[in-house]
Amino acid sequence: MESEEDDRPMETTPLNNSDGCQVHVRKKAVPFHRNPATCLMTLGLLAGAVVLASIVAIYSWNTDNQPICNDPCKLTLVESIPWNLTYAAGSPAHPSTYSAWMGLVQKAQQSIDIASFYWTLQGEDLPAYDESANEGQEFYDELLRVGQGGNVKIRIAQDIHDGIFQNDTAFLAKTGAAEVRSLNFSRFYPWGGVLHTKMITVDGRHFYVGSANMDWRSLTQVKELGAVIEDCPCLAQDVGKLFSVYWDLGKPGAELPSSWPAAYQTNYNLQTPVQVAFNGTNTNTFLSSAPPEFCPKGRTTDVDAIVGVIRSAQKFVYIAVMDYAATTLYRYNNNIYWPVIDDELRRAAFDRHVEVRLMASKWNHTTPVSFRYLWSLQDLNFTSKDLSISVSVKLFEVPDYPDVEKQFEYTRVNHNKYMVTDQVAYIGTSNWSADYFINTGGIGLVVNQTSGQLGKNSVQEQLKAVFERDWNSPYAFSLDHYSQER
Ligand SMILES: *[C@@H]1O[C@H](CO)[C@@H](O)[C@H](O)[C@H]1NC(C)=O
Ligand SMILES: *[C@@H]1O[C@H](CO)[C@@H](O)[C@H](O)[C@H]1NC(C)=O
Ligand SMILES: *[C@@H]1O[C@H](CO)[C@@H](O)[C@H](O)[C@H]1NC(C)=O
Ligand SMILES: *[C@@H]1O[C@H](CO)[C@@H](O)[C@H](O)[C@H]1NC(C)=O
Ligand SMILES: *[C@@H]1O[C@H](CO)[C@@H](O)[C@H](O)[C@H]1NC(C)=O
Ligand SMILES: *[C@@H]1O[C@H](CO)[C@@H](O)[C@H](O)[C@H]1NC(C)=O
Ligand SMILES: *[C@@H]1O[C@H](CO)[C@@H](O)[C@H](O)[C@H]1NC(C)=O
Ligand SMILES: *[C@@H]1O[C@H](CO)[C@@H](O)[C@H](O)[C@H]1NC(C)=O
Repeated sequence: MESEEDDRPMETTPLNNSDGCQVHVRKKAVPFHRNPATCLMTLGLLAGAVVLASIVAIYSWNTDNQPICNDPCKLTLVESIPWNLTYAAGSPAHPSTYSAWMGLVQKAQQSIDIASFYWTLQGEDLPAYDESANEGQEFYDELLRVGQGGNVKIRIAQDIHDGIFQNDTAFLAKTGAAEVRSLNFSRFYPWGGVLHTKMITVDGRHFYVGSANMDWRSLTQVKELGAVIEDCPCLAQDVGKLFSVYWDLGKPGAELPSSWPAAYQTNYNLQTPVQVAFNGTNTNTFLSSAPPEFCPKGRTTDVDAIVGVIRSAQKFVYIAVMDYAATTLYRYNNNIYWPVIDDELRRAAFDRHVEVRLMASKWNHTTPVSFRYLWSLQDLNFTSKDLSISVSVKLFEVPDYPDVEKQFEYTRVNHNKYMVTDQVAYIGTSNWSADYFINTGGIGLVVNQTSGQLGKNSVQEQLKAVFERDWNSPYAFSLDHYSQER
């Protein structure tokens, strides 16, 4: 159904035109704590007032700027596994997107804010009734029930659409169940763009972020990955700031402002991630956002977050994204070369001998162009006595749905967008082509638990296990399998 190919408008905007976004990536996050004893000793040794002042400044800068959150946060990875896609017994499994979304909506006491691309939860677009649309319908009915109940205020920011793509939200709005605003990216960028974010925030305490659209397909026919974070007001409120940006830009006639209100600023970012415990494990975390003009002061851009994560890897970088291209794809014959992420992967593989694995997705709508960038990246792979560059690419294919005569349009695809390294887990909403970072709304969640115990409760270990399950499954084919696309 959703055709980002067809209805995606194009764009053009230089990346470095940002309002306070951190366009430059620093190598490392600032360390958490300075040792006070070391500080005192240093103070004793140094007499000059100027020197003293500067040390005090460094000390307070670190403590002030490394925010600490004591909320009892829990993070759960959630997945949609397309019906009849099966794995070997004992493979990693996580709660479904459907159960996570239902749980969030049922928990709500005051508010639900949803940022979304398009809406087709009800299966109205199916040629004939199919059971696999039930979960989408049930989720929609639950939203309608909660919204009409009157206690919970539902706000929806969506990309601007006509007809079937906004029928669900038009009905929610008409019946007073939700307030709905639509963002028209053609007003913001010469090449257009879309709001592609998928997130749900509840009561300023809980939220979902991940790849799943508000589409019945995303619950039962498309493979999705996301995270639900519960009992975590500090981060949920940070997500609320991301929502405020969308909400403002959804006002009729909205323009990109020259600066954002101070209330939308954040101090949770790449340089100073917030220190929080997810399920009791020490974590450094922050949320990134794209495009740069949507970032109030202090917000790390999504591409800077990705580059920062790749740059910090010491052993491996495993990536699962639907599409990968070192260019824009949506500017017709005006596409531009944009090797920002591609360069970083090559550098990691070449300079630091980091093992790079990229798992893209193959479906009936995969653009043939994307193979060029995949081949090009993998061509770097080479090992000899004194050189070790390890880069491999696979494509994941979801087998057809067995119970129907004709496959449903725009289904059976791996829609995941995440990355895991020896250090960090990153869960995003964007394809990895330039458009998504320049003129498309998306967000990313960076989770660094290297200061905690890496074990079965670590998000990084769990995400790595998901990646390995898929990479080693019979559904992932090495690039050589597609030599006709070379
Ligand atoms: C990713 O990009 C491809 C085109 O390259 C498009 O077909 C697909 O719909 C996009 N999907 C998402 C979720 O971005
Ligand atoms: C496909 O999955 C559905 C839902 O789990 C199940 O009811 C059905 O029997 C499966 N069909 C086949 C052919 O495995
Ligand atoms: C739109 O949704 C409403 C409410 O669920 C439904 O009654 C109606 O049939 C839908 N319209 C179309 C064109 O699908
Ligand atoms: C979106 O904005 C563009 C540029 O201002 C305008 O031409 C177009 O009509 C708008 N679309 C809708 C559906 O309002
Ligand atoms: C990468 O290079 C190594 C050594 O040259 C080789 O064994 C391996 O098969 C290559 N991998 C791919 C994906 O081509
Ligand atoms: C993709 O195309 C192939 C070949 O035309 C077809 O057999 C298959 O059913 C299609 N799959 C989907 C999900 O549309
Ligand atoms: C992860 O956090 C640790 C501190 O616990 C820090 O030393 C390290 O640089 C961080 N890594 C990344 C990639 O941010
Ligand atoms: C954290 O706890 C929740 C609730 O018990 C659980 O669902 C989730 O999987 C745990 N997260 C991790 C990373 O183990």
